[in-house]
Amino acid sequence: MQVLRFLSLFLGISSVAARISKRNATTPNLNVQKLWDLQTNLLDNFLYPNSTVQAKEINSTLLASDIQGRVDITRTFDGAELNTEYLFGLFSNLAANANSFSLLGLPLSYEIIHFTANEYITAANTRFMFNFTSLGIMLPVEIDGWFTWNEAGQVTQYDVTFKYWEWLLDTVVTAAAQLLNTTTAAATQTALTEGLAQSICATSTQYCNGTNLQYANSTQCYEYLTEEVRFGEAYELGRNTLLCRMVHQNMVPFRPEVHCPHIGPTGGGYCTDDTTYVGTVENNYFNLPFMPSDLIS
Ligand SMILES: *[C@@H]1O[C@H](CO)[C@@H](O)[C@H](O)[C@H]1NC(C)=O
Ligand SMILES: *[C@@H]1O[C@H](CO)[C@@H](O)[C@H](O)[C@H]1NC(C)=O
Ligand SMILES: *[C@@H]1O[C@H](CO)[C@@H](O)[C@H](O)[C@H]1NC(C)=O
Ligand SMILES: *[C@@H]1O[C@H](CO)[C@@H](O)[C@H](O)[C@H]1NC(C)=O
Ligand SMILES: *[C@@H]1O[C@H](CO)[C@@H](O)[C@H](O)[C@H]1NC(C)=O
Ligand SMILES: *[C@@H]1O[C@H](CO)[C@@H](O)[C@H](O)[C@H]1NC(C)=O
Ligand SMILES: *[C@@H]1O[C@H](CO)[C@@H](O)[C@H](O)[C@H]1NC(C)=O
Repeated sequence: MQVLRFLSLFLGISSVAARISKRNATTPNLNVQKLWDLQTNLLDNFLYPNSTVQAKEINSTLLASDIQGRVDITRTFDGAELNTEYLFGLFSNLAANANSFSLLGLPLSYEIIHFTANEYITAANTRFMFNFTSLGIMLPVEIDGWFTWNEAGQVTQYDVTFKYWEWLLDTVVTAAAQLLNTTTAAATQTALTEGLAQSICATSTQYCNGTNLQYANSTQCYEYLTEEVRFGEAYELGRNTLLCRMVHQNMVPFRPEVHCPHIGPTGGGYCTDDTTYVGTVENNYFNLPFMPSDLIS
């Protein structure tokens, strides 16, 4: 008996030691209140106009320098600068550029509807209210995500998905039809294509010059975007589509040398047909596990 008890005690201690060794400098053990505060602080700063403050920092201090991010309808994003542009800059620039036409909106408020947290990991489903400024409508948008945090309280990873995205896009396009006075789906798509192409080409003409040139002139840009590239399905905001270039137009002013190719004919590796469904689902992108260290052997 004594031996057994000693053995189980010994095993218990050794497994505790093993657990601790699995948590390293990149994975702190934060309490739920702290993790909640980190989550809400991130979301407060994601809202417009707070996002303009983060965008100006170029590398937002809310993000770890080696942050990894994934958004299901687009792509993966590495590093603080790219993620600052994508998480904060996209929206602040959309707002700053009143003439740009977009099916995207600005997040104005939020409510976390499901939340749990453990050690260095949070899971939050959040219902935002977005202002689709080009269309003059407000719609709720649910974004569900998993996040990991470092000792400094910065995001080290996020993996988010837009719930009901296809339905949202249909709802936005239906609203656009009213604004554009179109009565058929085909006519709406044509009108949207024209509006988006004009907006993207205006950005290209203004910022993508010299070594960042993408199109010979705005006519060629317009023809390419209206005739040669497809509009895109709901899941194709990171593929060779007009919808993808719509997303990336808002990041061009930050670093034309990086983002111009994304709105150009090649898509610059972000608006490119180099992904597959299976490859996307099976991509083990993240470095840190989204799982309590107790469960990892
Ligand atoms: C902006 O962020 C601050 C905290 O940093 C927060 O108190 C405020 O509510 C945020 N603004 C909006 C509009 O939510
Ligand atoms: C942002 O981070 C990148 C990568 O670490 C670095 O090269 C760049 O100089 C930083 N920019 C600013 C303004 O801090
Ligand atoms: C939504 O955007 C429109 C167009 O920019 C603006 O006029 C309106 O005031 C915004 N609504 C809110 C609640 O911010
Ligand atoms: C749509 O119709 C309304 C009312 O007739 C008009 O004011 C508006 O300019 C039209 N919009 C477009 C894009 O044709
Ligand atoms: C290229 O565009 C930038 C941004 O609009 C502008 O500041 C710069 O003067 C332009 N360069 C040339 C060579 O036109
Ligand atoms: C635009 O560029 C295309 C392709 O180089 C050329 O054929 C066309 O003449 C140009 N159009 C104008 C208005 O410069
Ligand atoms: C921390 O653990 C993760 C996951 O096991 C590993 O990828 C990372 O390299 C480790 N970092 C350090 C500083 O040991």
